[in-house]
Amino acid sequence: MRVDVLTLFPSMFEGPLGTSILGRAQDEGLLEIYLWNIRDFAKDKHRIVDDTPYGGGAGMVLKPDVVVAGISHVKSVNPGPVIYLTPQGALFKQNQAKELVALNSFSLVCGHYEGLDERVRKGYIDAEISIGDYVLTGGELPAMVVIDTVARLIPGVLGQAESYETDSFYSGLLEHPHYTRPFNFEGEVVPEVLLSGHHEKIRHWRRKESLRRTVIRRPDLLEGRSLTLQEQKILQEINKEISVKGGS
Ligand code: ADE
Repeated sequence: MRVDVLTLFPSMFEGPLGTSILGRAQDEGLLEIYLWNIRDFAKDKHRIVDDTPYGGGAGMVLKPDVVVAGISHVKSVNPGPVIYLTPQGALFKQNQAKELVALNSFSLVCGHYEGLDERVRKGYIDAEISIGDYVLTGGELPAMVVIDTVARLIPGVLGQAESYETDSFYSGLLEHPHYTRPFNFEGEVVPEVLLSGHHEKIRHWRRKESLRRTVIRRPDLLEGRSLTLQEQKILQEINKEISVKGGS
């Protein structure tokens, strides 16, 4: 997969993208990340990238001619869509990560200050992504969040021990709880079924705890999702347990 990033601060990306799984993915040629400094596309001798907003007010706006020169360059080397990171974008979710990994190439534009001139957004940006309802100092951290989320879905990036199919959100549910040795930690023991070696029972327990966790913590995730017959049955079991506990 190829990702091109337009940013005023390329050095911010070095640590997070060069370390651990993403670093390994690049070493193995599964992921290529190209960082482009927006300032390199400024033509004046002071390499100015921003200007005051028309109408006055606080903040600065990135100059459209500079940003468009950057986007045009990136488009000449990366055939994928150009995505702008902004708190006004569509909320980034696992499903969108799945779409992006299927595309195999895309570019990210990181805003700063008051962001992009509206005419750039209208004419040169294919999609806008927000990573949450809060405002960061720039689009760099959101760009890294998007790259990390998408890169781990590239076939071969995660080892077998790190597979993503059981992740929270991948199947539309939160993931089940995990345990490792010791069996007894500070008086709390591991659920017996996980020691049984009975794969079918373990699978059922995990599905049930995954549903239980989702019902309790993120019931909104279930609203837009149709439950399988097995899930409906498990949900009934959970509801029975809850009403028994509630009544006692
Ligand atoms: N830039 C600043 N805040 C952001 C956010 N929440 N998502 C995406 N880009 C941003």
